[in-house]
Amino acid sequence: MAVLDLRDLPDFTANPYPYYAKLRAEGPVHVVRTEQTERIWLVVGYEEARSVLADQRFGKDWRTTGRWAAEANPISANMLELDAPHHTRLRRLVVREFTARRIEALRPRVTEVTTALLDAMVPAGSADLVDALAFPLPMTVICELLGVPDIDRDTFRTLSNGIVTPTPAQREADPVGAMSAYLVQLIEDKRSSPGDDLLSALIRSRDEGGDGLSADELVGMAFVLLVAGHETTVNLISNGVRALLDHPDQLALLRADPGLLDGAVEEMLRYDGPVETATFRFTREAVPVGSTVIPADEAVLVALASGGRDPERFEDPDTFDIRRAPQGHLGFGHGAHYCLGAPLARMEARIAIGALLERCPDLARDPAGGEPEWLPGLLMRGVRRLPVRW
Ligand code: HEM
Repeated sequence: MAVLDLRDLPDFTANPYPYYAKLRAEGPVHVVRTEQTERIWLVVGYEEARSVLADQRFGKDWRTTGRWAAEANPISANMLELDAPHHTRLRRLVVREFTARRIEALRPRVTEVTTALLDAMVPAGSADLVDALAFPLPMTVICELLGVPDIDRDTFRTLSNGIVTPTPAQREADPVGAMSAYLVQLIEDKRSSPGDDLLSALIRSRDEGGDGLSADELVGMAFVLLVAGHETTVNLISNGVRALLDHPDQLALLRADPGLLDGAVEEMLRYDGPVETATFRFTREAVPVGSTVIPADEAVLVALASGGRDPERFEDPDTFDIRRAPQGHLGFGHGAHYCLGAPLARMEARIAIGALLERCPDLARDPAGGEPEWLPGLLMRGVRRLPVRW
C-alpha cells in the first residue's frame, strides 16, 4: 500500500478534516508517514475504528512486540501501555474513584474553582481563555484529587506538553526522563507525608492478590492520571468554545436554552474533540480491517477525529449541531481503554462552559489575538492560546 506523507500536507494540523474525508472515500485503512513515525497504519472509518478499539488482537503493550523494547521507562508502566491482565489489575485499582457517582461529589469544588477563575478573569475584559480557565481548572481538580495541590504547575505543564504535544526541540530534550524523575520525587514526598487523597491511597493499596503497586506502577499511575487528567480537558473546553464562537447560531441556541449544554458538550467531542488519534496499538497477528489485512507486529493509529466525521455514521457530519445527540462518538475512545476520566471531563467542561457563557454575555474572539498556534502532532487537537474578549 502506498505511503501517504502527512508532512506534505501543510495545513493538515490546522484542519485535517477534508483530508480525512478524502481518505475515508478511498478506504477505511491507510499507511501514513508522520513527524514521529516513518510508517504507521491509520484507521479512518467509524465502524473500523470502533472495531479495532475493541479488538484484543490490537495490543497496547509494546514491550511484548520485541520491536520497541529499548525505550522502557517507569512512566510506561501505566494502564494505557498495558494489556490484560496487567491493564485490568491497574484499572481496577482506580476505577471506583472515577464512577459518575464519585465524580458528582466533586461538583461543588469544581464549581467553586471555576467561579474563582472567572472572578479573576472577568474584570479584565479580555483574556487568553486557555491560560485563564481551560488549563487551570482541570489541572487544579486532578491535583487536588491526587493530593498534590502544591505541584509546580508551570514546570509540570512544560514537562507534560513536552510529552503529549512536543515540538521537535522538546522531543530532543528527553521529556519522558524528566517527567519520570519529577514523579519519582513527588511520590517520595507523598510517602513521607501521606494524606487523605488518591495518591496516598494508591501508595497503601493492595490488589486482590494482596500485592501493592510497584515503584514503576506508581509512577505510571501518577503520570497517566495527571497528564490525561488535564491535557485533554483543556482542549475540550477551548475547542468547544471555539466551535461555539465559529457557529453563532449554535451559540445563540445554547444561550437561549442552557438545558442544551450536556448535549452540546457531546457534540463538541464528536465535531472537534481533543484526542485526534488514539494512542498506538500493535497487531499481535495479521488482522483484516475492511478489505485490507494489516500484517502482524505493525503499529496502528485509530483516527477518532475522522470517525466522528464519517457520513456513514453521522448525518451531515461537518455540521456542528448541538441538538444532534451524537451517541456512540469516539471522543473518549472505546473498548477496554475507554477513558477512565470521562465523567470528570464531562462535568468540568459543562461547568466551565456554562459559567463562562453566563458571566460573559458578549463573549467573542479577540481580533488582536492573531493567528492560532495549533498543537503539533497527531495525538491532540487544539490551540495553545485562545484570545477572547467580552
Ligand atoms: C475531554 C477530556 C478527555 C478526553 C477527550 C479523553 C480521551 C481519552 C481517550 C480517547 C482515551 C483512550 C485512548 C486509547 O484507547 O488509546 C482515554 C483514556 C484514558 N483517560 Fe481520558 N480523556 C479525557 C479526560 C480524562 C480525565 C479528566 C482523566 C482523569 C483521570 C482521564 C484519564 C484517562 C485514563 C486513565 C485513560 C486510560 C484508560 C485505560 O487504559 O484503561 N481522561 N481518554
